[in-house]
Amino acid sequence: MSRPDAVIPTLPPLAGLCSFEEAGRSTLSVEDCVSWMKRHHYLLVRLHEIFTAKISAEPVFELKTAFSLHAYLCAEHASAFRRRVGELREPPLGLDVVPHDGLKLVCDEVLGSPSHTELVLGLYEVVIPALLQSLKDYRQTTNLLADAPSVRVTRFCQIELEEILAFGQRAVVALVNDASRSNLATWIALLKQALVSASGVSGRLTQSESSSPEMALAPHYSAVPFHYDPVPRRDSRFHDSFNGGVNPEAFLYDEQFHPRDKVLMMLYKRLREIDVPEMMASILQQTPGKPWKYYADMSRQLWDEARHSLLGEVGFVQLGLDWTKIPINFTWSLNLNTQLKPWERHAVLFFIEQGLMPRTGKRFEWEVAQNSGIPLAAVIQDFDWADEVLHAQIGREWYVKEFGDLTEAMKYGDSCWSQVMGHWRDYLDRGLTQHDNWWPEFYQSACSTMGVSPDPAALAFNTTYESTRADLKDISASA
Ligand SMILES: [Fe+2]
Ligand SMILES: [Fe+2]
Repeated sequence: MSRPDAVIPTLPPLAGLCSFEEAGRSTLSVEDCVSWMKRHHYLLVRLHEIFTAKISAEPVFELKTAFSLHAYLCAEHASAFRRRVGELREPPLGLDVVPHDGLKLVCDEVLGSPSHTELVLGLYEVVIPALLQSLKDYRQTTNLLADAPSVRVTRFCQIELEEILAFGQRAVVALVNDASRSNLATWIALLKQALVSASGVSGRLTQSESSSPEMALAPHYSAVPFHYDPVPRRDSRFHDSFNGGVNPEAFLYDEQFHPRDKVLMMLYKRLREIDVPEMMASILQQTPGKPWKYYADMSRQLWDEARHSLLGEVGFVQLGLDWTKIPINFTWSLNLNTQLKPWERHAVLFFIEQGLMPRTGKRFEWEVAQNSGIPLAAVIQDFDWADEVLHAQIGREWYVKEFGDLTEAMKYGDSCWSQVMGHWRDYLDRGLTQHDNWWPEFYQSACSTMGVSPDPAALAFNTTYESTRADLKDISASA
């Protein structure tokens, strides 16, 4: 019998993490790593802020939903860098300190972008590529063994930023023509010069590593303070946005209707949920001074709601139905964002979501979907339900705790929602909509696409939002 250590098998050294050369680097001290990572953290926090600030007023659905995702991802990576910096002998963390005025200027300028043309150029051609380069440089410079926890955080951040950039590059191609690009050349040069003034995102690049010529760093768009616009806007696929002519909740909870037909109403409700990120973005923008975790948690929920809207779109696409025929109402986000204070909006959100939890809520929707014969609908509602459980927890953490009592918190949410003027009749009187009942025509065409006969009772459905709120209480919402 041989001794167990007679032959040492040839295995990767250093836990497979890196080479001896990479583990032998001595360029960066803990202090150097901390100050470099604080710059990554700063940019991720600012990117989160910029994406969030644009969600409500950005009309294009694909940008609105991508900004929701990108804001969430930036928040997640900012959280990871915060945690890592906290592990490096760092209290006080100093994470609110602006690392360099040049970095601040770049972010302020992009935040101040007057349209999505400047925005996508600034984000996806300047800020995010510069951040990505710095993340790569970090991994090329630090000791991969001694600083392994930071390298891991950096690597994950790099992976998702590359995905963000891949979307962004396609957005730039779609949205920026040669004329706009040349009109914005001076502004782009300003952004790049501001980065140079900060010695790059890393703070370690020398002037010669940049090709930008010297220029004065005079603020352009950020010369005036940023003004947040909470008014939701939609692109041309979203028409007749004040239409309250169909009450999908009334259809959903009416036992006479077939689950298959109810799925159409649920998909509409899912798609309509784009109003939730529009509203939540306004809460985040207009609620300063909370702990970072508040913004991170709320951004997760915001993205989930955008995802629910996208799942509605996918449901329609899979069934071969053109959702742009349906007027997707936006009065919920419009009214909340313009009539209520941020805290009151949060109260309404919690009240609605808490109402989704009981027997008649998300479980019911999932059961309907399961009985519909449409497998994707069941998957959508299954995950939607799971997400809502998480959202109720987020609400308890960041809303109910302020009351200390669930009943009081719910009562306040209900009363805030009741304060919102529905304006159903007013929209009609002002000619903003005719509240057309779009359902029969859409339903008939859906039945013909799906090769099924319409149910005459469903075809005759004609309940509006005139006197009933989405929770079927007298006197719209989703979440
Ligand atoms: Fe939700
Ligand atoms: Fe939702």
